[in-house]
Amino acid sequence: MSGNTYDDRGNNDGTIVNLRGIGEFGAHPGTGLAMDTGSAFLIGDSMTGGYGKGPDILHECTIAVNRGEIAVIVGPNGAGKSTAMKAIFGMLDLHKGSVRLDGEDITDLSPQDRVAKGMGFVPQTNNIFTSMTVEENLEMGAFIRRDDFRDTMAQVYDLFPILKDKRRQAAGELSGGQRQQVAVGRALMTRPKVLMLDEPTAGVSPIVMDELFDRIIEVARTGIPILMVEQNARQALEIADHGYVLVQGANAYTGTGKQLLADPEVRQAFLGG
Ligand SMILES: Nc1ncnc2c1ncn2[C@@H]1O[C@H](COP(=O)(O)OP(=O)(O)O)[C@@H](O)[C@H]1O
Ligand SMILES: [Mg+2]
Repeated sequence: MSGNTYDDRGNNDGTIVNLRGIGEFGAHPGTGLAMDTGSAFLIGDSMTGGYGKGPDILHECTIAVNRGEIAVIVGPNGAGKSTAMKAIFGMLDLHKGSVRLDGEDITDLSPQDRVAKGMGFVPQTNNIFTSMTVEENLEMGAFIRRDDFRDTMAQVYDLFPILKDKRRQAAGELSGGQRQQVAVGRALMTRPKVLMLDEPTAGVSPIVMDELFDRIIEVARTGIPILMVEQNARQALEIADHGYVLVQGANAYTGTGKQLLADPEVRQAFLGG
């Protein structure tokens, strides 16, 4: 070990994200904090819990993302990936464990309060308002802001030019890949300090998947750490600094993207050999 954490990143490309910062998209006031890879920027720590009075779905599950990094959660259907994301976003009660954002314990905060603290979340389903126009969707994303958000909207349109062309169209008329762009754009409108994406490439063609991954890398480069769930496990681990394989609500394998891609057991069981 050289002591440089980034030697082991899945993409092996130290230029891929902004190693220095957090949350600069839309000129979010920088914190000026030095990079500290030892402490996660966002962590769901030993989370145990489920839905309502139902059985526990998560069992001591730990998911984290560091400043300037992309972390990816993979695993079979029903493993609890979405549940882990929802738990980190405050949508279910944890029986055990905690969630911390930038060192602050936010376990008891509502999802709304977490958004105000800088969490952006794009859920797996129902992540856009289909009957509203593209631009109205982005405006809805800015609901917590009292300031002028036009610059941020311009940045979203720079990132996803097709959305500018289609800004007056109902979002429901767009293709699957374009809808995902609307969903990510909506989340960016709050100027998040960390972005959580649940299967952003679900149901899109391989070409559109590659394009979406490129845009996600671009967002990460602006300094926003990204935590995402992906069913395209191999491709996602290739761009991941850290990866988590979840099985039955628990951590099965954890490592850098590169380590997981090279692990024979992970390859055999989750990456198709
Ligand atoms: N809203 C819900 N209420 C009750 N159980 C749920 C709910 N959503 C998911 N589950 C259950 O939680 C488990 C994990 O689901 P999920 O987190 O969606 O898995 P994944 O995202 O890995 O496919 C499944 O057994 C599923 O049936
Ligand atoms: Mg899911």
